Amino acid sequence: MDQTRSNACVLFVSFLLFSTARTEDEGVIKALVAFMDKLAPMQTTPNWGWNISSDPCTSKWVGVTCDTSNQTVKKVVLENLNLSGTFDPLSLCMVSNLLVLSLNFNNLTGTIPPEISNCKRLTHFYLTGNRFSGNLPDSLTNLPNVKRLVISNNEFSGELPDFSRTTSLLTFFAQNNRFTGQLPAFNYHQLQDFNVANNDFTGPIPDDTGRFDGNSFTGNPGLCGKVLPNSCQVKKKEKDSKLRDFLIYSGYVVLGFLLVVLLAILLMKKKKQGRDEKTDLSPKNGSQSGRSSDSKNSRTRSEFSLTSVENGGVSSSMVVLSSPAGNGLRFEDLLRAPAELIARGNNGSLYKVKQESGAPLVVKRIKNWKISKDEFKKRMQKIDEIKHPNLLPVVAYYSSKQEKLLVYEYQQNGSLFRLLHGSQNGQIFDWGSRLSVASNVATALAFMHRELEAHLIPHGNLKSSNILFKSDMEPCVSEYGLMPIDHHDQDQDLYPGPDRTHDRTTTKIFKVDVYGFGVVLLELLTGKPVQDNGSGLVKWVRSVVHEEWTGEVFDKLLIVEGASEERMIRLLHVALNCTNGSREERPTMDEVATMILSLKEEEERSMTSSDP
Ligand SMILES: *[C@@H]1O[C@H](CO)[C@@H](O)[C@H](O)[C@H]1NC(C)=O
Ligand SMILES: *[C@@H]1O[C@H](CO)[C@@H](O)[C@H](O)[C@H]1NC(C)=O
Ligand SMILES: *[C@@H]1O[C@H](CO)[C@@H](O)[C@H](O)[C@H]1NC(C)=O
Ligand SMILES: *[C@@H]1O[C@H](CO)[C@@H](O)[C@H](O)[C@H]1NC(C)=O
Repeated sequence: MDQTRSNACVLFVSFLLFSTARTEDEGVIKALVAFMDKLAPMQTTPNWGWNISSDPCTSKWVGVTCDTSNQTVKKVVLENLNLSGTFDPLSLCMVSNLLVLSLNFNNLTGTIPPEISNCKRLTHFYLTGNRFSGNLPDSLTNLPNVKRLVISNNEFSGELPDFSRTTSLLTFFAQNNRFTGQLPAFNYHQLQDFNVANNDFTGPIPDDTGRFDGNSFTGNPGLCGKVLPNSCQVKKKEKDSKLRDFLIYSGYVVLGFLLVVLLAILLMKKKKQGRDEKTDLSPKNGSQSGRSSDSKNSRTRSEFSLTSVENGGVSSSMVVLSSPAGNGLRFEDLLRAPAELIARGNNGSLYKVKQESGAPLVVKRIKNWKISKDEFKKRMQKIDEIKHPNLLPVVAYYSSKQEKLLVYEYQQNGSLFRLLHGSQNGQIFDWGSRLSVASNVATALAFMHRELEAHLIPHGNLKSSNILFKSDMEPCVSEYGLMPIDHHDQDQDLYPGPDRTHDRTTTKIFKVDVYGFGVVLLELLTGKPVQDNGSGLVKWVRSVVHEEWTGEVFDKLLIVEGASEERMIRLLHVALNCTNGSREERPTMDEVATMILSLKEEEERSMTSSDP
């Protein structure tokens, strides 16, 4: 009697244990086991897991990493295990939260089946060092979030599908396979790594950015392009083409001459007109004429071009700095070019200017900045001397009593503000990328602070709309050093006063940027936009953290993605230190950069290892 009761008890307890230990549902576990069966591991030890009677998360199956918040599988990394079977995505992609899959350095054969597109969340997909063969399925280009695709060192063949719609892709490694045909389009502007060496591709290289050198394409005898010894020009019959060249060039000469004459006539007309309009558009009059209706025309016009700038013999007073974008830039052209107001901030307006020839520019226009001409000039020269890849250089500047103009190259990929808070076109701004933006910006600022410490020039107005993305999506800090030092804001703690005698002031001035950067970190972590100087967001985050609901502050997209909560919390602490109400308590930019760099490195290691 006693015996049976205790047996029943044991049964009951083990049933309880069993049922609570289950995290993924049974269908998913069966699918995972089926996936492993096809991979055909040669020999496994009992604690390898991957069987129906255990759980992938709680029983710690080899190569499986789970999301810590709800215990679902997010990574499968099975490298160097001499697996010799085939890959079965139909089963594996039942794991709906799978982000990382690596089967590197095994002995797998067969193709990549088209069902790979069921792995909708997949961001990292590694298959290097196997014996996969056949065509890549078209559906591989339907993975909406894939960032790293590494299929090098296999036996794949046939033509590549069209990857141009895979907008999230950052890495494409397909070297050492047997691919043929032409190289399809990729988003070369966005790709960070690209390699198709040692295949059998033919035809021209479509990469028009020139960001990847010959090493990315070598070993394809039929491929041609600027970066290869094999250039794409087709040889024609010499005599014929010489005659034709002559005819074409002489045609150009005539056309060019006509154009010059036409331009000269136009310019003369314009000059006359300019003289007529000048008085009405000068800023002195602008402020007096107010909103009277007869100045309405000129006012709207001045919003859309820069012609209202003080215009008396100014061409010599614009200084073109060392950036290559300034080559051949002339002030007159800048003023005449069509301009579009794109933003009006607390320290000036921003215009986009389309040049007749050359890339579009951005002009920052600051009014009534009480800084002497000499001091402004010195400041600009100093900033120009210091170059950092994550800092947007000033192309040229102009200075008069009433206003200052600063010219930058236009960045068409927009700002961090837009990426975080604008419409995202279905593109995920994931945790790894956010961490990388934070780290690069922090490093650039720390560098600038070091270089400009003696000159007391902080950024002064750091915010997410001043962090732009270059054509390769690298972040760069814009508008460095444009905040008037004597700016009196209601919040004295945010903007330093003009008192520069104290040693402490030196560090205090730079701590303004540390605060601004802290707010940017909070935007990255919460996904919430900021108003004014970010104090509202800072207060909200502090109150939530104080109530110990820290998890609540994070951007839902980051939670969904399965970003490491531990690292998010650590970055949150950095942000809270940066936004400390007392400037002395804030870390220096250098310290901030070091902390974030180590977080980023940890994140990168975790993406490929099987540790959480
Ligand atoms: C299943 O995997 C678990 C976890 O590694 C292990 O303890 C158990 O012995 C395995 N069961 C079988 C039948 O192999
Ligand atoms: C891998 O498995 C094959 C059998 O498929 C075996 O011949 C080979 O020795 C194994 N290699 C290693 C490194 O274990
Ligand atoms: C791959 O498998 C073949 C037999 O199928 C075996 O000869 C070879 O050693 C294996 N390679 C490795 C690296 O284990
Ligand atoms: C588990 O959490 C991740 C993110 O943390 C989420 O994407 C996923 O949908 C969750 N899965 C389940 C089954 O709740």
